[in-house]
Amino acid sequence: MKHKNFARLVSSLSLVILFAVSLSCKNKNASSVSEIEKTVEETLYRPNFHFTPKANWMNDPNGMFFLNGKYHLYFQYYPDGNVWGPMHWGHAISKDMITWEEQPISIYPDDLGLIFSGSSVVDANNTSGFGKDGIVPIVAIYTYHNMKGEKAGDLDFQTQAIAYSLDEGMTWIKYDKNPVISNPGIKDFRDPKVIWNAATSKWILTLAAADKVLFYSSNNLKDWKLESEFGKELGQHNGMWECPDLFPMKIAGTDQTKWVLLVSINPAAPNGGSGTQYFIGDFDGSQFTVDPDFKIQLAEENALWVDYGRDNYAGVTWSNIPQQDGRKLFIGWMSNWEYAREVPTENWRSAMTIPRELSLQNIENSYVLTSVPIAELSSYVSKTILKEKLVVNQKKAIISKDEVDLSRIELEMELNNLTKNTYSFLFENSQGDSLSFGLNNIEKNYFLNRQKSGRVAFSDKFANTISIAKKRSPSSNLKVKVLVDKTSIEVFYNDGETVMTEIFFPNQPFETLSISTSDDQLILENIKIKEFQFN
Ligand code: FRU
Repeated sequence: MKHKNFARLVSSLSLVILFAVSLSCKNKNASSVSEIEKTVEETLYRPNFHFTPKANWMNDPNGMFFLNGKYHLYFQYYPDGNVWGPMHWGHAISKDMITWEEQPISIYPDDLGLIFSGSSVVDANNTSGFGKDGIVPIVAIYTYHNMKGEKAGDLDFQTQAIAYSLDEGMTWIKYDKNPVISNPGIKDFRDPKVIWNAATSKWILTLAAADKVLFYSSNNLKDWKLESEFGKELGQHNGMWECPDLFPMKIAGTDQTKWVLLVSINPAAPNGGSGTQYFIGDFDGSQFTVDPDFKIQLAEENALWVDYGRDNYAGVTWSNIPQQDGRKLFIGWMSNWEYAREVPTENWRSAMTIPRELSLQNIENSYVLTSVPIAELSSYVSKTILKEKLVVNQKKAIISKDEVDLSRIELEMELNNLTKNTYSFLFENSQGDSLSFGLNNIEKNYFLNRQKSGRVAFSDKFANTISIAKKRSPSSNLKVKVLVDKTSIEVFYNDGETVMTEIFFPNQPFETLSISTSDDQLILENIKIKEFQFN
């Protein structure tokens, strides 16, 4: 069996490493050890179906657009090291957002500064005038971060700039009159996200400005007018607002449109460090106003979050998704500024979340932005195990050793007739590592616990707490969908009503999954275990 071989390979590699380490202590032959470590790292930690750069540092997703059958993903990238450094836009292309091909670096820093986060749009009507010979230009809008200005103690070292591409995003020509938005004296002034607002026939740019967002409008992507600001007194603060995204969405099952505003914040996420909150409201082409019902939700919860786990940050949506597709597609950076620079991978650092389809739901008079993994993932399923019913008394195996490769699965199940109790799912391996998630139905909280998940000591912020999220639905039934990919778990409760994403670094792959509860008899139903195959 394939996965047996994999487990064998990893455990033998671990033995090799131990042997090599002991040799190196004698021989001082450190380089061969690090070669072996690199190989083990690739086998054990390189995700199967989450985007990672081949080498070196990555953070936020940037400038994503769809064109001619291809999804483009750019990302904050430092090509010369595995910690954050002078930022470039890296680039990858995919036909299905699952299998990516990394491309040459697309935008390099220059005299005006490093290339921070931003977005890109397909300028179909050539409003910018950058189009030539009928070629539709793609326009990227990004932040210049000027290091000299920062070092000199200036306040205006972040400005907004544009570049255009006439070859489907492969190469970019920077606009010769950059910056297009100069800095009014706000130190943190970045991450422009642009959309086309059909109602006013204008481009709208949403920008993070320390503790608020600013909205600008333009006819040509070059000349921008400040329209309004939002958020100083709303939502979560105590951290820097970053990477906003504003877009309209139909409330599922209705014809009514509301506007969704995503705002990442670092630190001050619900379980520590970085996270992404959202607001629901209306946008009149100039001003964003929070919906009165959503304001009540904010009064109760302070902030609502795209993801309550610790590793989904700076996520934004794709532009130019064709109308006949109609999905709102989102991807986030699967890490957290609290420890991103220290995670135990040397070859590359960090991965993106699985791309997700967002929807706006009105559930019992509350707005919820739900997210589920994109449907494209299902075409990689190579094996499905169906278990109709499992009767659980205290503890029961759901997946036993050798049934599937737990480092590339999707798991779905339903728990019915829940009582006031705790329902805990547990991944384990023979090295004593474990990862658990589930529902505490006494406290009405979901939890995710990576405290014993393997290598956790690289940062004292990594496993200092157990992440929790409020259970929204009062129902006594629960639907769970889980994706596991070597070093990440993404849990989607009740069709993405609450999501928790976290990374972990086990000493060897997890081998079994069980559930425990102190209910006398819990029935687990409709269990679907899917193993993926890539390549
Ligand atoms: C968010 C962020 C952005 C900035 C980029 C720099 O993670 O801090 O605000 O543009 O990263 O790499």
